Amino acid sequence: MLRIIECWKLNGKIKRCQKCPVLVKNRTHTVQGEGPRRAKVMLIGQAPGAEEDAKGKPFVGRSGKFLDSIFELYGINRKRLFITSALKCYPPANRAPNYQEIKNCRNYLIKQIKVIDPKIVVLMGESAFESVGKNEVLKNRTVIKTVHPASAMRFPSTRKKIMKD
Ligand code: URA
Repeated sequence: MLRIIECWKLNGKIKRCQKCPVLVKNRTHTVQGEGPRRAKVMLIGQAPGAEEDAKGKPFVGRSGKFLDSIFELYGINRKRLFITSALKCYPPANRAPNYQEIKNCRNYLIKQIKVIDPKIVVLMGESAFESVGKNEVLKNRTVIKTVHPASAMRFPSTRKKIMKD
């Protein structure tokens, strides 16, 4: 019950967030993340893309479809994972998040990890690592640092890595 309230409060805070003026101006929806409140595995990407911004859901665009194909290949049920990103807002023209944006959004991600309390955290790409890779919230959890699915779609070597991880 407490976990539901915490998640609900946090989602409200993210929706109302005004910390990054450029992102606030540009966004249609914030993308808090999606998945069970008690997920054992949390996947963290970089930032929502245009489709995620339009729908308010994580990984529903091309990277998401690619991720889904990996899940299907390995018999992983996406509904059992909590999926989110380092940033909760779409950076204009899908550019990479900058240092300040990652910093501004970090506490939301840390709070999500604390509340959901996953055993396994998968950091997909550099922004996820930059956000919480060295934070103590990852202590006593299994951390898998892998590549971002967008990179894995493009390069065979990174594709091999994400498959293995
Ligand atoms: N890439 C991300 O890192 N997150 C999303 O939600 C979509 C694409």
